[in-house]
Amino acid sequence: MEKHWFGVPVDIEGICIQNGCISSTEALVHLTCNEGDTVLIPSPLYYSFAGDWWVRCKARIGIVVTTEATGYEPTIAALEAAYKKAIKNGSKVKMLALNQPNNPTGRMLSTQCLIECCTWASKKNLHITCDEIYASSLFEGK
Ligand SMILES: Cc1ncc(COP(=O)(O)O)c(C=O)c1O
Repeated sequence: MEKHWFGVPVDIEGICIQNGCISSTEALVHLTCNEGDTVLIPSPLYYSFAGDWWVRCKARIGIVVTTEATGYEPTIAALEAAYKKAIKNGSKVKMLALNQPNNPTGRMLSTQCLIECCTWASKKNLHITCDEIYASSLFEGK
């Protein structure tokens, strides 16, 4: 077992082992969401999230639209738009889910973007989950 994860010390008490990445994120969604709650996630996204978080948890996906122009990085405006859309549809937003390196784009989010997303999510009192299944497939940080 590694004692560090990309330079960040890992405490054995903070590790929970599951039998797959999807079952791990699904468990987190199940822990944090009631039926009909929303998990915000930037597009483009791994196709399986929506179905896998729906089957048991009945959690909805709120797409945070990104474009090639921003390098597929979510902007605060896009986060706000997705948040407001969920609220308008009568759903409580419980979580911001990120995935990097991203499937399908393969991209990493910039540190600036991560800070902005996490600051925004914390102001909204949202849980933050990051699927980093491909974290070991980084080449010089990209
Ligand atoms: C972003 C992402 N998360 C999760 C999974 C699924 O991981 P697992 O098979 O460990 O549940 C994949 C598989 O392609 C993936 O691309």
